[in-house]
Amino acid sequence: MITEIDFDRIPRSALPGLLARAPKAELHIHIEGSLEPELIFALAARNGVALPYDSVEALRAAYAFTDLQSFLDIYYAGASVLLHEQDFYDMAWAYFEKAARDHVVHAELFFDPQTHTARGVAIGTVIEGLSRACVDAQARLGVSGALILCFLRHLSEEDALATLDEALPYRAHFIGVGLDSSERDHPPSKFARVFARCGELGLHRVAHAGEEGPPAYIEEALDLLKVERIDHGVRAIESPALMQRLARERMPLTVCPLSNVKLCVVANLAEHPLPQLLAAGLAVTVNSDDPAYFGGYLNQNLQELFDAQPNCGARELYQLARNSLEASFASSQCQAAWVSALDTQFRQAAAAPAALTRSD
Ligand code: HPA
Ligand code: ZN
Repeated sequence: MITEIDFDRIPRSALPGLLARAPKAELHIHIEGSLEPELIFALAARNGVALPYDSVEALRAAYAFTDLQSFLDIYYAGASVLLHEQDFYDMAWAYFEKAARDHVVHAELFFDPQTHTARGVAIGTVIEGLSRACVDAQARLGVSGALILCFLRHLSEEDALATLDEALPYRAHFIGVGLDSSERDHPPSKFARVFARCGELGLHRVAHAGEEGPPAYIEEALDLLKVERIDHGVRAIESPALMQRLARERMPLTVCPLSNVKLCVVANLAEHPLPQLLAAGLAVTVNSDDPAYFGGYLNQNLQELFDAQPNCGARELYQLARNSLEASFASSQCQAAWVSALDTQFRQAAAAPAALTRSD
């Protein structure tokens, strides 16, 4: 019989080490949001692209956002340095190296093809560069990677349908579709036809909903887009009926704490509703969204959240890591192996708590 993990035996001082080493999945990262200012400047120089900022420092100083749109304007400008297959590869490879250091065992990367095709970059250039980085991440870092093509919701559904058609020759290189960009006034219902088509194609479906948009957008994503995960979803906290539904259906929410603070969705991490969502039985995961812009990768998100939330302890850390692995689109065999490794780490921590206080 498998013995229960005695979470109460694990002291808070063991959390940084456990958090750093636990196997985790990253399910909500926009790969264009992993472009660090240094890489933006290096790619701009390599490609002869002019930037409206004089230096890395000046660009970083512009990262003071008041809402989602104020971020998106800078994020799309940063992505303008990406032109060639190698650029997309370099961006994703830089991310995978950081993910490996965070003990991310599996990462599902969002990418925004319309941001690039609108500038004349072929969709194949985007997908082949990212896909090659995924292959190398598995071979050289042991990190499994997969791609999720996101439609920009501020554009039309016709544009999304045309993008899907352009992407189909590369169908083998992506596992699903998502919906991102400006949420306000762009409800999921706008994309019902394209998501239905994606369902027929056997693609996984996820959507951003309830970041800035109301709880009704989360319901639309579930009922009209038939999504398998909700990205963000924190505004579910405003609707007890929706909370009950999300818990009952074990619908994963890919929550991004540092993003929510930087985009003023929540006032600070101490007031973040994640612990309440978790306590209500929702399948919450922690993710980094756009780590180069929001101040940290996956472990940083976890560490800062746990620092700010005294009621989050070893039990919550275990649950978040486990949820991330089980909410992934990886095979059930991979999930089981990762969960087993996670169990071993927590069991050992409970048996010998003092041995696990290092954070490397
Ligand atoms: N929300 C919506 N669209 C996005 C985001 C986000 O947090 N990041 C990149 N595109
Ligand atoms: Zn996002």
